Amino acid sequence: MTFRVAIIGAGPSGLAQLRAFEAARQAGYKDLPEIVCYEKQNDLGGMWNYTWRTGLDKNGEPVHGSMYRYLWSNGPKECLEFADYSFDEHFGRPIPSYPPRAVLKDYIMGRIEKDNLRSLIRFECAARWITWDEDTQQFSVTVTNHQTGEQETSEFDYVVVATGHFSTPNVPYFDGVEKFPGRVLHAHDFRDAREFEGQDVLLIGSSYSAEDIGSQCFKYGARSVTLSHRSKPLGFDWPEGMEERPLLERLDDDEAVFSDGTRKRIDALILCTGYLYAFPFLPEELQLKTGNCLYPDQLYKGIVFEDNPRLLYLGMQDQYFTFNMFDAQAWFARDVMLGRIALPDAAARRQHMDSWLARHGALDGANDDIDFQADYIRDLMDATDYPDFPVEKQGALFKQWLDDKRHDIMGFRNRSYCSTMTGTQAPCLPRPWLEIMDDSLQSFLKLEFTPAQEEPARKASNA
Ligand SMILES: Cc1cc2nc3c(=O)[nH]c(=O)nc-3n(C[C@H](O)[C@H](O)[C@H](O)COP(=O)(O)OP(=O)(O)OC[C@H]3O[C@@H](n4cnc5c(N)ncnc54)[C@H](O)[C@@H]3O)c2cc1C
Ligand SMILES: NC(=O)c1ccc[n+]([C@@H]2O[C@H](COP(=O)([O-])OP(=O)(O)OC[C@H]3O[C@@H](n4cnc5c(N)ncnc54)[C@H](OP(=O)(O)O)[C@@H]3O)[C@@H](O)[C@H]2O)c1
Repeated sequence: MTFRVAIIGAGPSGLAQLRAFEAARQAGYKDLPEIVCYEKQNDLGGMWNYTWRTGLDKNGEPVHGSMYRYLWSNGPKECLEFADYSFDEHFGRPIPSYPPRAVLKDYIMGRIEKDNLRSLIRFECAARWITWDEDTQQFSVTVTNHQTGEQETSEFDYVVVATGHFSTPNVPYFDGVEKFPGRVLHAHDFRDAREFEGQDVLLIGSSYSAEDIGSQCFKYGARSVTLSHRSKPLGFDWPEGMEERPLLERLDDDEAVFSDGTRKRIDALILCTGYLYAFPFLPEELQLKTGNCLYPDQLYKGIVFEDNPRLLYLGMQDQYFTFNMFDAQAWFARDVMLGRIALPDAAARRQHMDSWLARHGALDGANDDIDFQADYIRDLMDATDYPDFPVEKQGALFKQWLDDKRHDIMGFRNRSYCSTMTGTQAPCLPRPWLEIMDDSLQSFLKLEFTPAQEEPARKASNA
């Protein structure tokens, strides 16, 4: 009898799950499930589906998007390329290594539209409540269908949670903030850097959002950008006008007072303080509870929920690798659901998680992290027919990326990398990234890219 699968979310992870089943159909697999993908937004793409809205969306649901205008890929596109759909295939010609957001969204959509998978997605349907019935061995999934205004409930044998984890802001409190006369916002609500033109901006945090939103504000004309860290500074060689300070202690009217006693007058405060994992549509016993890390506990192979193996989570790791890691996970999840991968018993699954968690606990720095995530993907990929790709070489590209950033934080997006999927060397932007203000798809594709002029040493390390 056909079984039923609910996928919650049509971002890159949920779409990877749809694509994995489609690949199975095209390969002639029998006994495929009936699939319904519920997506609360009105289009696919997840985080890449940019919205100008903040707060609540037009249906009164919390806005999912945390992306902003002028966001360009923060890692080389060669490290997120799908193994079954290359950039060359999508764009018909080589494009530079760091495309803007709209270009990456176009790429993600291309693979899905090619296979006409949109029909499996129920848009504007927000998962509201999911329960598990031990007797029937089924989930009951209730969604609010905002197109009809009705609640609908259906039964499923498996649920795949692919709702992302960069949407519910972590918002710490700082003394004096309620009397601060300027704008205070979390990175989740940041949309347009031009808003801060001519202003002195303070950002809290020392991870990707602080680094990139700070760089955006600098690029679009902020007077000064100050980055305040809790644990350690980002440590880049920032251009004049950008600086790092220790943690903000309090706000004294429009002055920030830092833990080293120094002060700075500021116009705006942007909290780049990360995100919380939130699954309000799941009862507590089915919720993954973790912080942002490379190996969340409770997930066998980073996917299968410990207390109920019919519940699968995708994309819950912190991410160096993204799209192709979600693919490796989705193919694995698919084969678990199809019974092609037999799950070991609960004790063996626990032991397996513990061994990875022990390794995770011993990681020492970004290079280790990259190797760890590459090994994780390799482990998944070896178990399925996802087209094998040289994930270790992509790991080497990530290490090159770290070097490129250390060398020139405002210039690393001008660099070019070689695709490990197709062997194509990316061309370069015709002008430095700092000078390209229009990031639309149309404008980007009209640019006259130039052949990469790379120094031999760097080329060798990309090979
Ligand atoms: C600011 C920012 C910049 C980033 N930049 C990059 C980058 O440059 N390169 C890169 O590779 N990665 C980047 N990422 C990482 C990004 O998380 C991944 O690229 C990718 O979007 C994760 O895919 P996902 O499907 O797991 O989650 P998401 O993309 O977050 O998609 C989850 C989907 O689930 C839906 N959903 C949520 N709740 C419900 C519900 N209750 N019912 C129904 N649907 C629901 C959402 O609407 C959304 O469509 C960035 C992330 C952020 C926050
Ligand atoms: N394409 C792009 O350019 C781009 C841009 C932005 C974001 N992203 C993506 O978005 C994801 C999330 O990145 P993120 O930077 O938002 O989150 P993150 O990586 O989880 O980092 C959170 C930061 O907030 C700090 N923080 C948390 N609580 C704090 C507190 N109470 N006081 C002070 N500091 C606090 C943390 O400091 P500690 O180190 O002390 O914990 C850390 O520096 C990443 O996957 C990233 O790739 C990409």
